[in-house]
Amino acid sequence: MTKTIAIIGGTGLTEPKQLQVISAHDVQTPYGSTSAPILEGEMAGYRVLFLARHGHPHRIPPHQVNYRANMWALQKLYATDIVSVNAVGSIAIDAMPTRALVLPDQIIDYTWGRIHTYYQGDLEAVKHVDLSFPYSESLRDLLAQAAHHAGKSIVNGAVYGVTQGPRLETAAEIVRMERDGCDIVGMTGMPEAALARELQLNYASLALVVNPAAGKSNSVITLKEIQTALDAGMTDVRDVIAQAIRLFYED
Ligand code: HPA
Repeated sequence: MTKTIAIIGGTGLTEPKQLQVISAHDVQTPYGSTSAPILEGEMAGYRVLFLARHGHPHRIPPHQVNYRANMWALQKLYATDIVSVNAVGSIAIDAMPTRALVLPDQIIDYTWGRIHTYYQGDLEAVKHVDLSFPYSESLRDLLAQAAHHAGKSIVNGAVYGVTQGPRLETAAEIVRMERDGCDIVGMTGMPEAALARELQLNYASLALVVNPAAGKSNSVITLKEIQTALDAGMTDVRDVIAQAIRLFYED
């Protein structure tokens, strides 16, 4: 079976610089419009799909992303494997300081009110997908190997707590999340992962730490510090993705 890799770019990755764009697809879905046209192109000679999760320019907040349309449209364009890039705050700051690359292996979902399933409306039968292990092990392995090839260290395994946003958390919320076992915190990991599973797509997250979570440093969180970390860290993300694409098609 032919396989195709798609990248969902998060905050800081709305434009895939190394992608030679061949076409931009405006996919109409039963769930509405995608965040942006899906770019189809080549990276190092390989076919890649790219979608800017927050739109291009960046304008759709995490709680208003049309996750269902995005995932459905990627599958319509024959994506089989999806690498999601997520900018996150760090709760386990010693192991995962600012600028660390992280490959989460678990999720705790704190979001609410998002449309989070394809299984609603006029159904023939009730369906439940298994999400014990929300990320694809093979895709996680590929990303770990890609980081190795790119000469970047990466933390392999973390619990990603997904909050509703768009506000950042209170310090007490972060203490609670830490008690729950969360290592990193972001706003876009869900329902994306669950929808990928409903569509039987392989899905993994490549997370970049852009700030210590609320209460985890001596100061409040500023957009400036986040932007500085994004600017610096996205080159690492791009390098890992370039290697991942090569390994995906060559192996
Ligand atoms: N909290 C939630 N989402 C985030 C953060 C954070 O501290 N940093 C980047 N995305």
